[in-house]
This record gives sequence, structure tokens and C-alpha cells, in this order.
Amino acid sequence: MIRHTLPAQAYNKWTEVNLSALKHNLQTLRAACARPQVQIMGIVKANAYSHNVSLIAPALFEAGVRHFGVATLGEALYLRELCPKAEMILILGAQTLEQSQELLQQGFDFVLHTPADLPALAHSARASGIRGQVHLKVDTGMGRVGMSPAEARQMLDQWRDTPELTLRGICSHLATSDQRESPLLQQQLSAFRELQQFFSAHPLAAQARPLFHLGNSDAVLQHPQTHFDMVRPGIALYGYSSTAAPLQPVLSVKARITQRKHLPTGHSLGYGATFITARPSQVGIVGIGYADGVPRLLSNQQDVLIKGQRAPIIGRISMDQLAVDLTDIQGLDDLGDEANPEVVLIGHSNGDSISAREWANKLNTIPYEILTGLGTRLPRYAV
Ligand SMILES: Cc1ncc(COP(=O)(O)O)c(C=O)c1O
Repeated sequence: MIRHTLPAQAYNKWTEVNLSALKHNLQTLRAACARPQVQIMGIVKANAYSHNVSLIAPALFEAGVRHFGVATLGEALYLRELCPKAEMILILGAQTLEQSQELLQQGFDFVLHTPADLPALAHSARASGIRGQVHLKVDTGMGRVGMSPAEARQMLDQWRDTPELTLRGICSHLATSDQRESPLLQQQLSAFRELQQFFSAHPLAAQARPLFHLGNSDAVLQHPQTHFDMVRPGIALYGYSSTAAPLQPVLSVKARITQRKHLPTGHSLGYGATFITARPSQVGIVGIGYADGVPRLLSNQQDVLIKGQRAPIIGRISMDQLAVDLTDIQGLDDLGDEANPEVVLIGHSNGDSISAREWANKLNTIPYEILTGLGTRLPRYAV
């Protein structure tokens, strides 16, 4: 178990979580919603995309978010401790029937993705006297978890006989909301709208008022027709999107140089000797490595920021350390008592910045994977 109870100076690597940026991003998402009544469900799964849910969820609650989405029961239980007054904690992840029964007992909202589970869930609810809060998950084209629209219609027909389960939502998930023009998105949208029309003409509409929800971050920001009653943004809260929306990255990754040394021309650096100095070099050893989520594939590929200047990572990134070339960095001799200058791996430094997207582009992946890959050894500090 790792304990991060000391102030940042005690560590040689840490992350900073900027809660003003989080609130700015939430405001940007709110402003993008097609109608003021559209509710926002803050997606805080995977430890709030690795930002530390214990910082993020209360800040979102304070800013007015009342609905939260997570992926697992463990995440939901912790979230309930953090935000006991949250109106809805929805477990978005797929689960077995036994797990759904547990979620029902625990009083969380959960998704029903297969019609086969309905009778057993209704039975559990009846037997325990607990009303289940269910969201029908419809596969409108993603091909992942969820029932077909035809199955959803059949299920709605059966619902009259299922008073122990409250139909709290009907939802689906978009596969291509990051694209500005997408035939698949249009197809998913039509299927979802048809379901909404089917529901409004259904006798069940007199008793149940499920929230229709479909859109994730990019859908909020560039596809207003997908907003329905509620949207489910995740990554945009944390400052990333495929759109040009003016978001602010929330998380910075910082570390300290733990040793500075001079190496002569022709000296090798790190495992595998993948870097050989081509000149007399000043090298900084930084106490952060791939176990902290700095991907080893960034070895010899990525810069860090020191005093607003870019210094390249040289040699292989190891588990707990990496090396940077300080030879061209100005002002290091004037550091005085700052023997261990700060290194910004992700974040701002004197007008320049490095984002999780810069890493992701080099690795042919997405900021989600970079952020959620950040290690638990990095303390998260709210700033
Ligand atoms: C069902 C569901 N809704 C919403 C989201 C949030 O997506 P994004 O982070 O792209 O906004 C996710 C994330 O993967 C999801 O699985």
C-alpha cells in the first residue's frame, strides 16, 4: 500500500490536479449543451481518469454535478463515500447477473444489457424489497455491450409487469463522436431517436420518466443533436477532446532532477546503450520512470520542460528513472540553492507546454491511455 501523506517537497515525482481547470472545462461543457435542462453525468471511472477521484468528484459536486458514472462496484462504493448526496451513481460497465444483483442490493443505478437478466433481477428486487434503478443499455451500432433496439422494444413491452425495477434511463454509446461527419453516428442517432419515439407512444410513458442519454465528451462538444436528457462527458472534464473546444488540461506530471553529471563524448546512457553522447554533455537524472506511467516507448523520443526550455529524454526510460540532456539548457548554473530543479513532463513551464496528447501522438494512442496509465506511486495534489 502506498501512502502519500506528505507535502510535495517530500517526493521527487508528483502530479498536480488543477481544480480551476476542471471547473472551467465543466463550464465549457455546460455551455455546449443543446438545452439548459440537459443534465451532466460526470464520468469519474478509473480513479477519475487517474486524476484522483477523491479530488475530482467532490469538486464536481461542489460545481453542481449530481450524477456520476463509474465502471465498477468498488468505484461506486468509494464514490458514495466521497459524495454521499450524489443523486445518481451509475455503473456503466457490463456485469454478470450475479454482479447486477449485488449492484441492485447496494442501491446503485446499473445498466441492463441483456433481456435475459430481467426476470431474475425483478425477482431479486421483489425478494429483498429494494427497488432496482435500471438503465437499458442499447447497442445502436457500437457492437459492444447492450441489447439490440428490437430487444429493447420487447423489454419495454414487458416492463409493465416489473414494478420492482425503476426504469431510470435508456442509454447507448457512440462509436465515432470524435469525427465531425460520421455516417455511423447518424445511424446510431436515428436508432436511438426511434427508440425514444417508440417509448413516448408506449403506455409505459405514463408511469416512467427514464432519462435518455447517449453523448460522451466529443458528442457534447460537436454533436448537439445527441444530447437528449443527459450527457456523459469524461475526458473533456480533464481537458482533452478531439474538437477545438477551449479546454484546459487538469493534470500535470512533475519530477525533480536527482543528480546532475557531466559525461564525455562517446559515453553511453542507460540500458541497452541506446544513446551515446556526441559531445561533452551535462545530463540530468530524473526520478520517474515507466512504473510511474512514462511509457518506455518514449525513450529517445520525447522532451521534458525545464525552466520553460525543452530538454530531450536520452537513453532508455527505466522503471524508476530517466535521463535528460541538459547541455543546451540555459540558466542551470544560476540555480543557486536549487540543486534539484523541477522537470515538467506534462504541463506548463514558462510559456511552453507538453500535453498528454503530445505523448499519445508519438505512441499512436490516445490521451485516455496516457492518463489512465499514470502510476499510483505519483501523489496527486490539488492546486
Ligand atoms: C458508456 C460511457 N459513457 C461515457 C464515457 C465517457 O467518454 P469520454 O471520456 O469520451 O467523454 C465512457 C468512457 O469510456 C463510457 O464508456
